[in-house]
Amino acid sequence: EKVVITVDGPSGAGKGTLCHALAEKLGFDFLDSGALYRITALDAEKKNVSLDDETTLAEIARNLDIQFLPENGEIKVILEGENVGDQIRTAQAGQNASKIAAFPLVREALLARQRAFSTEKGLIADGRDMGTVVFPDAKIKLFLDASAEERTKRRVKQLQEKGFNANFDEILAEIKERDFRDRNRAVAPLVPAKDALLLDSTHLSIDDVIKQALYHIAQ
Ligand code: CDP
Repeated sequence: EKVVITVDGPSGAGKGTLCHALAEKLGFDFLDSGALYRITALDAEKKNVSLDDETTLAEIARNLDIQFLPENGEIKVILEGENVGDQIRTAQAGQNASKIAAFPLVREALLARQRAFSTEKGLIADGRDMGTVVFPDAKIKLFLDASAEERTKRRVKQLQEKGFNANFDEILAEIKERDFRDRNRAVAPLVPAKDALLLDSTHLSIDDVIKQALYHIAQ
């Protein structure tokens, strides 16, 4: 039986860290669905396709030539042979991802690819609609949230650690804009699945979040 654990929530809530920890502890595979939207937007830019051209964007999403290669605890993202890890992690790449993620045809084009990540090994699926759309039958669903200010603090720290410039007010505005778009789009809006466990990490350390998630999974 293929076990799937979904982890949804807004940007900067700590999903990535939680998901990596869970995948390692449980020996599961990991799906970073946000990376697929980021890569689609990047590939479109590289091919001079407008981020408004839904039909062509969907074609790009369907035909992505990508590999996710695990390498010392990190996952290398390869697009047409090129390591694009840094290019997809900028704030602009996040904005572009959230713009094209509002197109139903793009979301549909990525559905089969996302579902194919589920194997007998078990899967931790990280995203916005993992529990609601992509894996509605998942046994365990988590929804991780935190205040916009706390998420901004974490994102600023994370970007600085990677050597990027990060201004608090700019990142806060960016997070709010992306939250608004993700929560209000017509298709697959960011909402908790009805059967998801809600975890608010505003006042929790990442270790506490991991503990609570593991406790819930063990029930
Ligand atoms: O890491 P962060 O949470 O900032 O972003 P991400 O998970 O890489 O997602 C980037 C953008 O892709 C989000 O703002 C969403 O608009 C979109 N996305 C989505 O629509 N559905 C998903 N399952 C994952 C991401």
